[in-house]
Parts: sequence; structure tokens; C-alpha cells
Amino acid sequence: MITGKFPSLRLRRSRKNNWSRRLIEENNLTSSDFVLPLFLIEGKNKKQSIKSMPGVYRYSLDKINFVVDKAIKNGLPMVALFPYTNPRKKNHLGTESLNEDNLVCKALRSIKKKYKNEIGIMCDVALDPYTSHGHDGLLRGKYVLNDETIKILINQSLLQAQMGCDVLAPSDMMDGRIGEIRKSLDKNGFKMTQILSYAVKYASSFYGPFREAVGTKGLLKTDKKNYQMDFRNSNEALREVALDIKEGADMVMVKPGLPYLDIIKLIKENFKIPVLAYQVSGEYSLLSHGIKKGLFDKSIILESLISFKRSGANAIVSYYADKLDEILK
Ligand code: PBG
Repeated sequence: MITGKFPSLRLRRSRKNNWSRRLIEENNLTSSDFVLPLFLIEGKNKKQSIKSMPGVYRYSLDKINFVVDKAIKNGLPMVALFPYTNPRKKNHLGTESLNEDNLVCKALRSIKKKYKNEIGIMCDVALDPYTSHGHDGLLRGKYVLNDETIKILINQSLLQAQMGCDVLAPSDMMDGRIGEIRKSLDKNGFKMTQILSYAVKYASSFYGPFREAVGTKGLLKTDKKNYQMDFRNSNEALREVALDIKEGADMVMVKPGLPYLDIIKLIKENFKIPVLAYQVSGEYSLLSHGIKKGLFDKSIILESLISFKRSGANAIVSYYADKLDEILK
């Protein structure tokens, strides 16, 4: 593999000048590599900051067009919608998930009406923004029920597809849900609605700030280890992906991102399927607070983002996706 030797070979020769570094660069990022998560909140004229995520906001629906406009102008292919549900609308069964006038449904209708196919919209399929206990499915004791949860997820998926969602992203980690959702989409006339499976989602402490953003933090009394993956495992990630591909997933997600680059690479090498990386809230908070405190300079963001490309990710879900003009310049 290694040809040539010192002193006739000097690798620093090609690093000496900026033009030369650019000439031989192996990886790069463009706006097409990003998905922007958007947090939605009830009300009018609201742009609410989120304490644990400096520079990220919850928007009321009348403010969303402004953000989507900018995303389209900057060339982003897709946004992802996440609701901060009014606590009064939450219950044990998460029934608000099936209300066609919930925040996500309203946002889907208004964005699709205005922008048609100029930008893709992705929605989580899971119950956590809607349940009073903050879990992604139906809870019995401390256990999240699998098959019973899937029945609701199917209806949530169908509803979101009807409202115009382009990419359904089940993030719940129930066994077998991709196949069931695909079947019901096909049967009901949504053959072309895509599924991005959060196939490899670890039970992670890196989700902390997100749970503040969507208001589930105070609600959770137990962890999510009986459904999300154990971070000690990587063979299991391959099994999850293999199953989801068989069940009809168009793309798969690995989440969190930075601590799991090995998993992205492993999946890319074993299955030739589009893989997305989710640079989650905790990663964003670490970097952003570190920059704010003066511990790092801003290029730490680009360095982290490029690592996803190097590991083989096709795209990155990132809270930095609306700040790319500064990061990529
Ligand atoms: C919920 C969901 C979570 C995230 C996306 N969808 C949190 C969780 O599973 O508790 C995390 C995203 C982030 O941390 O940025 N199904």
C-alpha cells in the first residue's frame, strides 16, 4: 500500500499551501448534505430560545415560513419537524399524536401548501412528544409495549403521510415497525412516501438537551434502555439494519453521531444503503457551549461535521444546518 520512502517522499509537500491542500482533499461538505431539525410551538409570533442549546429556537407556525424560506435559499434538501406539545394535551396513551390538528400536522399542511416539493419534510414517528410519561410507546409498568405501540405508530404514519410528509422517520425502536408501517402505507395509496428508519438508535445521555427542547425531560421517570440500543454493541447494529432493509427502509439513521462513527462506517461497508448521521442535541450543546466559553474556535464545528462524511454518511441531521454560510465558508 505505501509506496516511496523518505526523503524522496515528503507528505508535507502537498500540505504546504492552501491550494494544494484543497486540490487533494478527500471529503467535503455542501448544503445538500444537511437536514435541519425545527422545533414547533403553539401560539403566535414566538421565537423561543432553548437554554441548553444556544442558537436553537422553538418557532410558532406563523414564523416557520421564514425559516423554511432560508433553508430553501441555502440549498438544504430537507427539514425535520419536532413538536413541543402543550402539557395539557399529553396523556398516558399519547392520543394527541393522532390529532390531525396537532402541531406537526398543521405545519406539514402549511409548508407543503406553500413550498410543494421545493424541500422535503421529515417527521419522527414515535409517541414521546405526546405521552405524559415521555416514553416513545405505550407504557406498562416500566416496560414499553412493542406490538401495541406499533398499532398506534401505523396510524401516526398514515396521518403524517396524508398531511404531506415526504419521509417518515420511525425513531421509536420497536421491533418490526418498519415492515408494518410500509405495508399500511402501500395499502393506503402512499407507495412513494419514504421511510428513514432510525435503525440504530442508542440509549444515550446525549439526548438530554433535546428533551428540554420538546418538553419531555421532567416527565421521564425511567431510562429508555428496554427499547433503545446498548452502547456496548456493534454487531447488533448490523442486525437492526439488516432487518429494517428487509422490511422496506429506504434509508437508515445512526444516532447519536460523533461517538458512533465506527457504526456508520460498519453499516456503509456492509450494506450499500444511504446512511444518515444524527449529530444530536448533546453534541451540539457541547460544541456550542465550548465555543461560547472560548475553549475552542469555531472550526471545531466543521471538523466534527467532516468526520461524518469521512466515516461514510450520506447526510447529517444537524442543528448547525441553518448556520452553514458561516461554517462552510
Ligand atoms: C424521540 C427522539 C429523540 C431524539 C430524536 N427523536 C430523543 C429520545 O429518544 O429520547 C433526539 C434528538 C437529539 O438529541 O437531538 N423519539
